[in-house]
Amino acid sequence: MHPDCERILLSEQEIAARVQEAGAWLDEKFAGTVPVAVCNLKGSAVFFADVLRATHLDMEMDFMAVSSYGANAVSSGKPFVKRDLFSSVEGRDVLLVEDIVDTGRTLVTLRQFFKERGARSVTVVALLDKPARRVVDANADFICFSVEDEFLVGYGLDYAEKYRNLPYIGILKRSVYEK
Ligand code: IMP
Ligand code: MG
Repeated sequence: MHPDCERILLSEQEIAARVQEAGAWLDEKFAGTVPVAVCNLKGSAVFFADVLRATHLDMEMDFMAVSSYGANAVSSGKPFVKRDLFSSVEGRDVLLVEDIVDTGRTLVTLRQFFKERGARSVTVVALLDKPARRVVDANADFICFSVEDEFLVGYGLDYAEKYRNLPYIGILKRSVYEK
């Protein structure tokens, strides 16, 4: 385990098993359609790669970045579109892949964004959900794991751009971000 982690919350094996279940749910949900799977960078990149390979769908991939976090463990405010999509999603079924729904502000911003772009539907699959932290009414359609209010890193999640490449999800030691 990385020395900056207090403990492993979700092991590589636990994540892999749940990602397969998410893939099966997506196969059913999108049967007969060709969705555009959108990765909200950067935190979702690892989950995106795994969960899409757990489906048997024909799909397209696109990438964007909505961000409200600086190098902080607390959100710095209103999310904004930092990088736009490569292609139009007008009339398309969008599958948005998120790393974690925390306050819900990012998700509200993204749902609004896809609506403005004329998407036919928006389905959100999230790796993690922190319901205790919610400040706006926004939820994913499929959640892999509901977690306590702790700062998590690994499997795409960062603190100040570090730890994204850890294969598990760990609880970051408070001493790392409270100094
Ligand atoms: P929201 O807009 O507050 O829901 O923020 C969601 C974003 O905050 C996620 O996409 C993450 O990038 C970031 N975030 C929230 N909680 C954590 C955490 O525990 N570890 C790392 N990033 C987090
Ligand atoms: Mg982040």
